[in-house]
Amino acid sequence: MKVLFVVSECVPFVKSGGLADVAGSLPKEIFKQGTDIRVILPKYGLILNEYKSKMTKKAEFTVKVGWRNQYCGIEEIEYQGITYYFVDNEYYFHREKLYGAYDDGERFAFFNRAVLDALPFIPFYPDVIHCHDWHTGMIPFLLRVEYQAKKGYEFIRTVFTIHNLQFQGIMPNHALADLLCLSDRHFHVDQLEFYGNINFMKGAIVAADKITTVSPTYKNEIQMEHYGEKLHLLLQHRSSDLEGILNGIDETIYNPENDNFLTESYNHKNLKKKSVNKLHIQKQFGLPIADKIPLIAMVTRLTEQKGLDLLHCVFQELMSDNIQMLILGTGDVQYEQFFREMELAYPNKFRAYIGFDEGIAHQIYAAADLFLMPSKFEPCGLGQMIAMKYGAIPIVRETGGLNDTVQSFNEGTGKGNGFSFKHFNAHDMLFTIQRALSFYRDESCWNVIVINAMTMDYSWARSAYQYNCLYAEIISRSESHVF
Ligand code: GLC
Repeated sequence: MKVLFVVSECVPFVKSGGLADVAGSLPKEIFKQGTDIRVILPKYGLILNEYKSKMTKKAEFTVKVGWRNQYCGIEEIEYQGITYYFVDNEYYFHREKLYGAYDDGERFAFFNRAVLDALPFIPFYPDVIHCHDWHTGMIPFLLRVEYQAKKGYEFIRTVFTIHNLQFQGIMPNHALADLLCLSDRHFHVDQLEFYGNINFMKGAIVAADKITTVSPTYKNEIQMEHYGEKLHLLLQHRSSDLEGILNGIDETIYNPENDNFLTESYNHKNLKKKSVNKLHIQKQFGLPIADKIPLIAMVTRLTEQKGLDLLHCVFQELMSDNIQMLILGTGDVQYEQFFREMELAYPNKFRAYIGFDEGIAHQIYAAADLFLMPSKFEPCGLGQMIAMKYGAIPIVRETGGLNDTVQSFNEGTGKGNGFSFKHFNAHDMLFTIQRALSFYRDESCWNVIVINAMTMDYSWARSAYQYNCLYAEIISRSESHVF
C-alpha cells in the first residue's frame, strides 16, 4: 500500500500543538507495519536550518490559486527512515507564525492544490491520501470534483482525520473562484456552502471516503449538537464512514526510564527516584522543597478548550489546601495574566511558566504527583497519557479522549489510573481533586494507582494497525464515496 500523509505541522520540523506530535510518530509506526507512507507539509521559514540544509529539490512547477499562478518547489529529505516532502513558496510560508494570518485561506488553498499537483513530479501516486484538519480539507474535495478525471488520480482514495472540529477554515464565498478555482455549482449546502461562506473542513467531511477522529468518544460527541460545531448533522449523515481511532504517544520520546531531560531516571519499580525529580523542580521554581506536599501540574495551551475557566473559578479554594501547583504553557492573554497574578498572590504554592520548553515540560511530568486536565472538549489529548507514563495521576473531565484513556480509581476493586468528573462544573472538579488528594495521603493505595497508570500501553502500534486496516478497506471498495 502507498499512502501520502498530508499535514500542516510535524515534529521534529515544526510544531504548534498535538497534531505535530501525531504526524511525527504515527507514520513511522504505519511504515513499520509494511505500508509505504510518505509525509508532505509546507516548508515554513520557521523550520530549523539543521533540517533545511539537508533538503534536496525534487521539482518546480506553478500552482493555480484563483487567477494567480504561484511558484511551487518540492523538496525532500529522509528522516528516520521516512520520506518527507516540503512544499516551498516563500511568499506563503516564510512567516512569523504557522497560522493566524489574514490570508490563511489563500495559503492553504495553495498548499492543497500544490499537494495534488506534485504527484506526477515526485513521482508518487498513492493509493490513499490521508489528510488532517482543515488546512488539508480541500484535498479530498478537489480530488473528487477535478483531479479524479486525470490520469494517475483515478483510483486514489482519501481519509480525513479530525483533530479539532473547532477550527474549520471558514472563508468568504468569493474564495470559491478566487482561491480554489471552483465554479458556483459547488456553493451548495450539500457541498462547500456553510451559512453563506465556504468551509474547508466541510469539504473534507463531504468528500472523503473515510473520516476519523482521534478518539472513539469524540466520534460520538461530534454527532451531537453540543459538540458538533454546526456540522453534527453532516457527521451523522456520514456516520457509517466515521471511525474513532485513539492516538498513542511516542515512547521513544516519553519514557522516564530513558529521558535525558530528567534529573533522575525511574520506572514503576523504583518510584522513590521519581521524587528526586520533584525536589529538583521545587528548587528550580523556588517552591518550598517538600516531598510530602502533593504537586499538581498542568502542561497545556492556555485556551478556553482546556477548562481553565473552571480553575479560575475555584482557584482560591484550591489554594487553601496543602498543595503546590505548577503550570506551563502559552495562549490567551487573559489566562496568562491571571496566572501571573496568582504567582504573586500565592508565592509558596503556585508557579506559572508562561512559555513552552520541551525540557522543562518533561521535568514537570516527572516531578508531578497529579496532572490536571479539565477540558471543555478534548478530541484526544496527549498530556494525560504522557502524565500517566511518568506516574503523574491525571484528573480529567470525562470528555473525548480523556474519557477513553482515564478510568477513575475505584477503591473497592483497586482498579483505575486516575480521577474523573462528568460535568463542566468547577466544584465537581474541585471535589474530584480533593478526592484524589485523600488517596494521595494513603501511600500504599497511591502506589497502586501510580503503578496502574505507569503500566498502561499507549504506544502507537495499535492505532497504526487500525489505520492500515482502514486504508485497505477503502482501497478494496469498488468506487469512491458518492456525494
Ligand atoms: C488537537 C486536539 C487534541 C489532540 C491533538 C492530536 O490538538 O485538541 O485533543 O490530542 O489534536 O490529535
